[in-house]
Amino acid sequence: MKLPRNFFKPLAIGAPAPYRELPVRLERMIHFVPPHMEKMRAKVPDLAKQVDVALGNLEDAIPIDAKEAARSGFIEMARNVDFGSTGLWTRINALNSPWALDDIIDVVAAIGNKLDVIMLPKVDGPWDIAYLDQLLAQLEAKHAIGKPILIHAILETAEGVKNVEAIAAASPRMHGMSLGPADLAASRAMKTTRVGGGHPDYMVLADPEGDKPRAGYQQDLWHYTVGKMVDACAANAIKPFYGPFGDFADLAACESQFRNAFLQGCVGAWSLHPTQIAIAKKVYSPDPGEVAFALKILEAMPDGAGAVMIDGKMQDDATWKQAKVIVDLAKLVSEKDAEMAKVYGL
Ligand code: GLV
Ligand code: MG
Repeated sequence: MKLPRNFFKPLAIGAPAPYRELPVRLERMIHFVPPHMEKMRAKVPDLAKQVDVALGNLEDAIPIDAKEAARSGFIEMARNVDFGSTGLWTRINALNSPWALDDIIDVVAAIGNKLDVIMLPKVDGPWDIAYLDQLLAQLEAKHAIGKPILIHAILETAEGVKNVEAIAAASPRMHGMSLGPADLAASRAMKTTRVGGGHPDYMVLADPEGDKPRAGYQQDLWHYTVGKMVDACAANAIKPFYGPFGDFADLAACESQFRNAFLQGCVGAWSLHPTQIAIAKKVYSPDPGEVAFALKILEAMPDGAGAVMIDGKMQDDATWKQAKVIVDLAKLVSEKDAEMAKVYGL
């Protein structure tokens, strides 16, 4: 294991010092753009105003014969668009693919100073993070990149889930993690054919009562993995995200899946279709009623200690901390979104 005193040292001479705290950023949705398509690239200047993070996807869903076009298309879009406070990310190909090395080398060389985060798919263990960490430090030094490029892992292999805590703790370059339910289902040999969401057969059947029809209650297939991911991330002060929801027509199910993840501790989700941007905005911005109540708690307990009753409910140090999470998030949303600032009264 690396010595604690070496953990925050740059891994190459001339690379920027790793962050000790993650930059504070609103990342309610990571919006996926297929950068090999000119029509899609043309929408990015507008899109950058609507989303919190714009991600150029180089991995799955990009046809093999378009891998190079996606890489150069991403570089072009990164160069030409002013992203303002919107995050600029890319999802590179998996480290065992023939494209990953050129993805990393070409993208960092061309637009490393604009790139916030590299999303790394199919992460099996901390060794994958260590490889990318070292390579990024060398490239940052070579190209005089001013701030560290962060790594976001996709949790989408059974081995990755087994090693999730070591992955979260692997490097100060870790930004967070997303659940990748499609690849994870395949890796685990789950008997589904979906990209995220529930399954009608994954349910608990109510006890029999004579001849009455028995109710069945659908359960959340992803509860265990999201819980495990949230704990690994929270324990290491990095950010957990729900990943993709593939049924673009089922807005209600998408919202419900995003919301379960939000309530469990996730801070955002992927949007693969424009309709999912609004869903993520709604779900991952705190509810105005909750914000109003949280503000009351903070006001009633200025030093965050003791116990008070508000609307018949007991509040103490622990609810004060929960209220602070909600109010801090509402403030972050308000900085980006003047309409929400009015709704929250902030
Ligand atoms: C995402 O990459 C997934 O496999 O779900
Ligand atoms: Mg995947």
